[in-house]
Parts: sequence; structure tokens; C-alpha cells
Amino acid sequence: MTAPAQAAHTQALLAQVAEQLGHPVTGELAAALRRVPRHLFLPEALWVRDGQGGYRPIDRRTDPHEWMAAAYTDQSLVTQFTDGLPTSSASMPSMVLRMLQLIEVTAGEAARQPPTSILELGTGTGFNAALLCALLGRGAVTTVELDAVLAEQGERNLKTAGYSPTVALGDAAKGCPGSAPYARVLATFSVDRVPPAWIAQTTPGGRIVAPWTSAWCCYGTLALSVGASGTAQGRFHDFASFMPMRCPSSGRETGNGARAQAIPAKAAKSATALSPWAVAGGDLDAEFHLGLTVPGAFFSWDTTGEHAPVRLRVGDTTSTSWATVDYDGAHTTEFTVTQAGPRHLWNEIAAAYASWESHGRPGVGRHGLTVHADGEHTLWLDFPDRPLVPSADVRSH
Ligand SMILES: C[S@@+](CC[C@H](N)C(=O)[O-])C[C@H]1O[C@@H](n2cnc3c(N)ncnc32)[C@H](O)[C@@H]1O
Repeated sequence: MTAPAQAAHTQALLAQVAEQLGHPVTGELAAALRRVPRHLFLPEALWVRDGQGGYRPIDRRTDPHEWMAAAYTDQSLVTQFTDGLPTSSASMPSMVLRMLQLIEVTAGEAARQPPTSILELGTGTGFNAALLCALLGRGAVTTVELDAVLAEQGERNLKTAGYSPTVALGDAAKGCPGSAPYARVLATFSVDRVPPAWIAQTTPGGRIVAPWTSAWCCYGTLALSVGASGTAQGRFHDFASFMPMRCPSSGRETGNGARAQAIPAKAAKSATALSPWAVAGGDLDAEFHLGLTVPGAFFSWDTTGEHAPVRLRVGDTTSTSWATVDYDGAHTTEFTVTQAGPRHLWNEIAAAYASWESHGRPGVGRHGLTVHADGEHTLWLDFPDRPLVPSADVRSH
């Protein structure tokens, strides 16, 4: 591509990113985006969302113009599927920039120095690692990838674009002890716990940024400051939905992947005034809170009409408990609940939702996490001395 064509593509991308962020991209971040051509990091076959819950392929060999346009659009581009699920992607550029802002890689106000070392978790295409090299210099950047094919491709892409950070093959849950410690650790997949190695390999005063997921809701980004005694503390931020961390044995996602349910024999029926749409209809603040406070609970919608005009199914990744909430097609103030198993899942959801309302419907940013030296996680609301009580401690009623 000619230099003017490249510049025009990047300028168009910067404009879209600015619109998404709500402010212009300036300074070092804009310069880094101009220096790292995104298309050099993309394979010939890509998949983009089709707007109907699925994906549609774009192949450079058959549709070079659409492929190039996709490369310079502010969207996530899936680069790998495993067993029908996306397992690697080039993240949405505006999300990448938000993460870089949150982890504080550029010289800040008050003459704060940029970090001298950063560990990126999830090399993928290598695009983010290249931005980090452009910002901090290649000697500062280590990146880890679980998938050998992706690690090799990512390293090749980085070389083509003129960057050579340390690319390590391994499980990011273990960090990358070889080049530790790091001033920053940046995950580019989502987690439901902070692996102890990340804190152990971050220098006191350093930062860890990781997208968050729970079985109920894959949303939010955690930013932790690491303390002197192996602890870390920080808040969640109101953006990002990243694919979950993969575990080495299966190569597939960890966390909320287990969905199989045996059906316990005895089910109890009741009625609820709580609308299933209130807890699972797209209110990210509510769903994020439920995900944190009702561990292991997940949901799916059944709109086949087989059992009810609309049914919300609730399951549990850790036991055989389940619940269903049926809308009869007419009444919006009362719904039929059926629950079975050791956990009364709908009662837990309803109690957690009531608690969320009683706290003034807190947004994602009012939630925080402390990771203690022994690895224990304490969730809190507003301030670290106001812990959030998980639903397991709320008696079913
Ligand atoms: C959203 S993609 C990363 C995007 C990448 N940073 C980029 O700029 O293209 C997430 C990546 O994390 C990798 N990953 C997931 N779990 C991992 C693990 N446990 N260890 C290392 N890499 C992992 C995936 O294979 C995938 O390539």
C-alpha cells in the first residue's frame, strides 16, 4: 500500500475511534496508531459479526477491498475459531486504546514516567504488542500466547511490521516468569479471577488491567494497583467484552464454559414479580452486579414457545441446580418460577437484584476488588471497606 493510502486508512480509523471514545485521539497514542498498520497483522480469512448473532467471513483473496476496509474499521475481527467458537481476534481498536489508557503506558501528568516493562497476555495477531513497542520500545515488551500457531503468526506479523518484542509460548495464567518483574500486566482476554502469578510478577506500585467475565455477564475491565505485600486493589471500568481466557488442556475457554446439567428430580413451583428481562434483558449494570454476586449462575433465553411463550433458563456451572422463569404472553407483573437442585437459583438472583436496587442501582464503576496476599478475592461497592456479600451467603426463601 502506498504511504498516502495508508495514511488515509489510519486517519479514517482514528476518526471512528474518536467517535467511539467521545474525544479525539491525540499525542503518543495517535502516533502509535499511525506507526502500526493494522492490516499487516491480519490473516487472509477474517470473520465479522453478521448482526444476527453470528459471523460472516471476509477473505482477502476473493474480496480484497472489503478485507482492507474491515482492517481499518473500528471493529473486532475474529481470526480463529475452535469447535465453532471464536478463540482469537484482533480486538476492536477503540477498546485497545481504552485499555492502553487505563494501564497508563504513556507519560502522564505530573511528569510521571512511562513504564519500562510490560507483560501483554494473549499475543493473538501481535497488533497490540506492536502498539506497545511503538510506545515503549521493544525491550520493554513481553507477550505470551497459549496457542503455538498464533504465537508463531503473531511473531511473524510483528517482524513484518518492524517490531521484535519477546514472544513467549505458554499459559498466561502463569504470567511469564522469565522476564519478570513487570511494571504493567495487561490481559487481552477476560478472566473471572486474578491469577496469583500476575500479582507476584508485578512490581509494587505497578498496575494490572484485565477484562472481566462472569458466568452471567461478560463485561467490564478491572484495573488493579499492586501493593507492597502481594495484595492488589482497584475498580472495574465500564467498557469491554473480551473472549474468555483459554485453559491449556482444551484450548477452549475456562470459567463459564461448563454448561452440562443433570436434572434433579424434585422441582418446586412459585411465582415471582421480578421480570426476567430486568435481570437478563441487557441492563449491563444489573447483569454485571449479578455476575459478581451470584457465582456460577448463567442464563439463556428460550423463545421456541415449547414450554411458554418466553422462558428464561438459569443454570449453575458448579452444581446441578436450575431454574426457569416463564412469561405467559400476557402478564408482565407475575411470572411462573420452577427451581430444582441444591441452590435456589432464582431466589439468589432475586435477592441479589433487590440488593442492587437497594444500593441505588450501582453502575460497573462503583464495584471494586481486593485480592489479598493469600489469593482470596473480596468484592466491594464504592470503597474497599464495604464488601459485597455473594448470594451463597444469602439464605434461600
Ligand atoms: C482477543 S485475542 C488477543 C488480541 C491480541 N492482543 C491482538 O492484539 O491481536 C485473545 C488471545 O488470548 C489468547 N489466550 C487466551 N487464553 C490464553 C492463555 N491462558 N494463555 C495465553 N494466551 C491466551 C488467545 O489464544 C487469543 O489469541
